[in-house]
Amino acid sequence: MSVTISFGTIWDAIFKMEALLTTQMDMIYDHFEILDGMQQIVGENLSLLAPIERAWQPADYLPNLNADDWCQQIQNFRTAAQGLSDEALVVLVGDMVTEEALPSYSVSLNLIARDYDGTNSKPWAKWMRGWSAEENRHGDLLNAYLRLTGRVDMRSVETTIHHLIANGFNPRAYPDPYNGLVYTSFQERATRISHANVAKLVAVQGDPNLAKICLRIAGDEARHEAFYTLMAGKIMDVDPAGGILAFREMMRGLIAMPGRLMYDGKDADLFDHFAVVAQRLGVYTVHDYAAIIQHLVKTWDIASRSVSGAAAKAQEYLCKQADRYLAHADKIADFQRSLPPVTFSWIQGRAV
Ligand SMILES: [Fe+2]
Ligand SMILES: [Fe+2]
Repeated sequence: MSVTISFGTIWDAIFKMEALLTTQMDMIYDHFEILDGMQQIVGENLSLLAPIERAWQPADYLPNLNADDWCQQIQNFRTAAQGLSDEALVVLVGDMVTEEALPSYSVSLNLIARDYDGTNSKPWAKWMRGWSAEENRHGDLLNAYLRLTGRVDMRSVETTIHHLIANGFNPRAYPDPYNGLVYTSFQERATRISHANVAKLVAVQGDPNLAKICLRIAGDEARHEAFYTLMAGKIMDVDPAGGILAFREMMRGLIAMPGRLMYDGKDADLFDHFAVVAQRLGVYTVHDYAAIIQHLVKTWDIASRSVSGAAAKAQEYLCKQADRYLAHADKIADFQRSLPPVTFSWIQGRAV
């Protein structure tokens, strides 16, 4: 059977596609305009970054190598870390590697700040640089902790960081800056939960130094979460349809995890294996994932926004999304508990 397509039909399709692209580009241009119109409120909330002169630094939580008793301080630090389980070490390394890939996040989130000269003085740009500077301490501190305690294979960990940064990161936000704000609101809360849960776990395993470190980092993530959630909330007020559609877009499939492309040169499924350990330990679970969606739906008042058409459909979808995950959460947890142990190069090839 032959199918004949006339030139008229082809041109019609091309015109329709062009019209659609133009509409989308106009919409994204509007989103940038709205973000630009928020410079003042961003400026008013730069206080959610800690003033540098009063900010904590990694050295505050590590042995003082300038002190006369530096050797004893290191010894005490190492002794406290001896009780950490292999599972806790794997989760800690996964979290640390994820923090160390900060260059990738700074690149992708410049979509929001559009700081093309690198020293732009507008509030969005100031926030993004200040945020990067705070995040930079997270990887530095966890890296130093792991190096000094001698509990993991640092070369393997470093190779993983090298691969992860070289592989990059795609939060699926481009080209819409609204997506970037939804993404960061979600992800800062996720990292806060994860670091806080590691703090509880390692405190029980007898390392108060690491518990303090993880809590301190979780405190930073809480401030970052507050900022991004507030800004995305403003978008929902100013442009509810656009905000809801962006939220729906980011919830299509699983939200991209920042360490997704980690690789140690050996395990092609390293991130999945790390994520299973985190779920089994209760550090970051499907329940947490669902609870974050529920929290954002409630905080941004998604259910009572007055929208129509595609945005109304997205609104309905979002309001049911947490329950969809919760319906499967126990089954997923059971399945992950049943998986056989996997070896990790980070802990000298031992299996967890
Ligand atoms: Fe962080
Ligand atoms: Fe953060």
